[in-house]
Amino acid sequence: MRNIIGNPAEGDDFFNRPIILAKLRRELDNLANILLVAPRRVGKTSLVIRLCEEWRADQKRKAVFLNVEGRSDEFAFAEKLIDELAKARLHPETMTWAMGVFSKVRQGLGGKGIKVPGLEVSLGEAADADHSTLGKVLESVFRKIEEGDHPVLIAIDELPEFLLTLQKADDGPRRVIAFLHWLRELRQTYRKKIRWVFLGSIGLDNFVEDQKLQKLINDLQVFTLEAFSADEADAFLKALGESNELPLTEVERKEVIRLVGWPLAYHLHLVFHELRDLESRSISTAFESLLQPQKLAYFDTWHERIDIQFSAPDTAACKAILGHLCKHPDGRERGHILAVLMAKPLADMDKVEEQLGRLMIVLQRDGYLLESAGRYAFRSFLLREYWHRRHGQ
Ligand SMILES: Nc1ncnc2c1ncn2[C@@H]1O[C@H](COP(=O)(O)OP(=O)(O)OP(=O)(O)O)[C@@H](O)[C@H]1O
Ligand SMILES: [Mg+2]
Repeated sequence: MRNIIGNPAEGDDFFNRPIILAKLRRELDNLANILLVAPRRVGKTSLVIRLCEEWRADQKRKAVFLNVEGRSDEFAFAEKLIDELAKARLHPETMTWAMGVFSKVRQGLGGKGIKVPGLEVSLGEAADADHSTLGKVLESVFRKIEEGDHPVLIAIDELPEFLLTLQKADDGPRRVIAFLHWLRELRQTYRKKIRWVFLGSIGLDNFVEDQKLQKLINDLQVFTLEAFSADEADAFLKALGESNELPLTEVERKEVIRLVGWPLAYHLHLVFHELRDLESRSISTAFESLLQPQKLAYFDTWHERIDIQFSAPDTAACKAILGHLCKHPDGRERGHILAVLMAKPLADMDKVEEQLGRLMIVLQRDGYLLESAGRYAFRSFLLREYWHRRHGQ
């Protein structure tokens, strides 16, 4: 296992989580479609890449993993999906035909009939009724898979990112609803051979709750992924040390786990990386070194995702809450946090109460905060210190 920072862990770099993978496979075998929810950086992408690898180990099964971050509209989403299904060598004839249709539309040759953006894109008068829109072309691909012999797992990473982009496009909110409807219909119509897993660094659960669209994903089974347990973290550090010529003693591993507080693989990788670079082999120095200004970028995803995920007023409120809590290692009561938000000019008590309730749920779900005995505090010491140094003037 290499000491890789940032990218998803694949192959030999993946520290196995067999119990969780077995549970996921059991759910899928029971025909569930999964919404994987977890705080940021817990290892969702790495886990699902491994799930796909294991799924493919059975020759009959196919799996596709697609990251739809950066896809600008429904067409780009569907194009990526078709591309990946084709790479999995499923029904080559159908796929070649579907890819041909997509590339024709992409080149503007079929552009004459384009009326509206999205999957209702008409393919022109010549198309037969069954293949008259892009949506229908896709459906015939799914029908083919459903009638075939290969169970297919489709894992979609960063769907909420895509939905947030789509929402800002022309007629965005309506298109988001139509798109989620379409996906739901696919799941429900072709449900014997096709399994779905959704994941993302922004939770789909947060997105649909914010938009009041929960009913469009309520067929998905929620599966929660947590950070490593203390035992897993210990075995992880042991394996990391042994494969990187810096075996850690039991006492050292315990100290790293104690200081990191919340054992995310990402944080353990970071601390180990610092330790390797130090001559002193001092764990406290490794933590201090990790929080130096030039290293703060390691944690920037935690504030960038807030900017993407929330409206401007909610972003400001989240930053006010986190800016306040990073100065209080022992946490603060809800009333104190409410007072911080109420201190803004023209703050309306009812609205601020509602906003605080909503945001505290998301901040806990995404792994920023933890509530204990009525006090809210940063879940990770590293994250708290990062916030303090970066934003907590
Ligand atoms: N099982 C694992 N074995 C080894 N490293 C891991 C494992 N899980 C996560 N990591 C490490 O943690 C980091 C984050 O992992 P990953 O990208 O899979 O998390 P994520 O939950 O998808 O993150 P995000 O919320 O940003 O999308 C990666 O650098 C990866 O190397
Ligand atoms: Mg990810």
